[in-house]
Amino acid sequence: MFKIAVLPGDGIGPEVVEEGVKLLRALDRELNIGFVFETALIGGIAVDNYGIPFPEDTLKTVLNSDMVLLGAVGGPKWDNIEVSKRPEQALLALRKNLGVFANIRPVKSIKPLISASPIKPEIIDGVDLIILRELTGGIYFGEPKYRDREKAIDTLVYNRYEIERIARVAFKMSLSRRKKITSVDKANILESSRLWREVVNEMSTDYPDVMIDHLYVDNCAMQLVRRPKDFDIILTENMFGDILSDEAGAILGSLGMLPSASLGDKYALYEPIHGSAPDIAGKGIANPLATILTVALLLRYSLNREDLAGTVEKAVEEILKEGYHTADIKMDGKVVGTKEMGDLIVKKTLEILEGDMR
Ligand code: IPM
Ligand code: MN
Repeated sequence: MFKIAVLPGDGIGPEVVEEGVKLLRALDRELNIGFVFETALIGGIAVDNYGIPFPEDTLKTVLNSDMVLLGAVGGPKWDNIEVSKRPEQALLALRKNLGVFANIRPVKSIKPLISASPIKPEIIDGVDLIILRELTGGIYFGEPKYRDREKAIDTLVYNRYEIERIARVAFKMSLSRRKKITSVDKANILESSRLWREVVNEMSTDYPDVMIDHLYVDNCAMQLVRRPKDFDIILTENMFGDILSDEAGAILGSLGMLPSASLGDKYALYEPIHGSAPDIAGKGIANPLATILTVALLLRYSLNREDLAGTVEKAVEEILKEGYHTADIKMDGKVVGTKEMGDLIVKKTLEILEGDMR
């Protein structure tokens, strides 16, 4: 049995998560995997109902789960409330409480979408990289944090053990990929980056077959647009990873396609990279594919079902190849809504599975 805590959140969150759950239920019916779902509130909707963005009940639900599937949080309605009640705080508290320090953000070009990218097709075709972002440390969490009218302080802290455990994930992961890691920092300026670089270099002696490169984050931002295919694993700290992953999404053509998995020693958190898109919420037009690809990551990392993960990813590619897409993607073919896209993916996934079983 697998206990999945479902946190739809705000904006388009509930719409896209519904399609992800639809797919999981369909797989469960077909293969008797044994998923049990429990839904809880997080973000603005929790502020509206409980007065806080991350209620005790929600914490209990996630701590009692094997994995969490989250939609998105936030929106203009809650932009002006006090900092401690901001929906984004809930997301940080969730990540911290689950101890999910390793955020995996795969960025892979999908053939039918290559024309949707603002970058030349020959630069995009074949991109296959992972941004491995440290998720529970750095400037997002450092103390002191301080603010008065004249002065504001944020603190960037990294401990050796925090760098070691994320670097370890990178090296292990690279063994089943192209054995190439680009560690991204700002070691010409930041002390925390100099420690980062030192730890990564020390660990690399345990992995003589893995090629390790160091890039300053500003340079990396440029190289990512110029030669994205050269990257395999980008290993970086919390805020640099946040920024680079939006950039990577943009070069592929749509942030609406990027999934993520966050892993720790005990828990796992799965969420699409995109935000709550309040401007299109409730209209049934949001792109559920990032969430559906996030479900593929859940199958890969929490269930160890590489076969099923691959099947879902293939279904997504097939459906796009047939020309079906949501309105956010600029390509020829037929525009469909959120639910219709979810149905198409379920149908295609089951078709591929049946084909494989025959
Ligand atoms: C992300 C988001 C979050 C982050 C925000 C919403 C807190 O931008 O997951 O990339 O900065 O980590
Ligand atoms: Mn971000």
